[in-house]
Amino acid sequence: MDTQTHEQTARERIASAADEAELRAIEREYTGKGGVVAELLAAIPTLPPTERKAAGQGANALKQAVNAALEARRAELDEARLAVELAATDFDATVPARSLAPGSLHPITQAARRLEEIFSSMGYHVLDGPEVELDHYNFEALNIPKDHPARDMQDTFFVATDAVAGDGRLVMRTHTSPVQVRAMERLEPPFRAIAPGRVFRQETTDATHEHTFHQMEGLVVGEGISVAHLIGTMKTFLREVFERDLDVRLRPGYFPFVEPGFELDARCPFCESGCRVCKGTRWIELCPCGLVHPNVLRAGGIDPERYSGFAFGLGLSRLVMLRYGLDDIRHLMGADVRFLEQF
Ligand code: DAH
Repeated sequence: MDTQTHEQTARERIASAADEAELRAIEREYTGKGGVVAELLAAIPTLPPTERKAAGQGANALKQAVNAALEARRAELDEARLAVELAATDFDATVPARSLAPGSLHPITQAARRLEEIFSSMGYHVLDGPEVELDHYNFEALNIPKDHPARDMQDTFFVATDAVAGDGRLVMRTHTSPVQVRAMERLEPPFRAIAPGRVFRQETTDATHEHTFHQMEGLVVGEGISVAHLIGTMKTFLREVFERDLDVRLRPGYFPFVEPGFELDARCPFCESGCRVCKGTRWIELCPCGLVHPNVLRAGGIDPERYSGFAFGLGLSRLVMLRYGLDDIRHLMGADVRFLEQF
């Protein structure tokens, strides 16, 4: 068979090949090892010298023709396959794209970042603590011994594990207060620190409690730290958040890790004579706080004879609810985009 006939045959077979597998077989047959082209080239030395050049050119031309035909057929098959795929869906490349909605930070994240800014500017460290916490830090070191009734206020989730040595019961932390003790262990007094984060409680869900919510702990330790420092700090922080001076008042409050302990109220920033947010009282409950109990300082390795400190526990969820006048805390963790889009 001469090269012209080979070429003719190859073209016809390639043009009618139904798929890639068939094309590969033809490709191997013509341009592969021991294929038609290779044989034509191998036969050249047996030809009379005058015919060799033409035979070489012929073999190369055949190879090029086969490759070109293969490429063309492959493109055809690709296009046909795409056409079938497109016909099978209602995909329409000409429909204008939906615009990308840029997301926004969750209101609690926004609040946490703003507070971090404010407290950093007052020289506070921003600390993090584990969400799965040792019983020791969550309770014991905070002056809440086992069987202490105060544990009932924070009924919680224990983590089933035997991975921790000794009396190492693990809990989903019920508050950010354990970071107080972790901070004391790490930082040399005097120091100031905040620790925002997620906390968990076993709650019968109503509209004001969730099993997951957010707090921000504050802790200042130094020589001669008093309630006056606590009040001054809270007023400064309120001025930053609400952009004006707000009076505060302290009521007695009990928490085992502070002595004395308080509930700190702030003047309602939203009204002059009582409103829905302050429930007509003109005061809003802001946060529990107090002077760090000597037992807690000791648990953190700090000498209570020399140092004292104050601590406070801000409910971030609560702050956001106050700020936006929300009446149902479940919105915050509900992951409803229609709600979140409003921030
Ligand atoms: N950890 C307490 C709770 O979640 C709140 C709290 C009270 C934090 C008094 C404090 C504090 O730092 O001094 O119920």
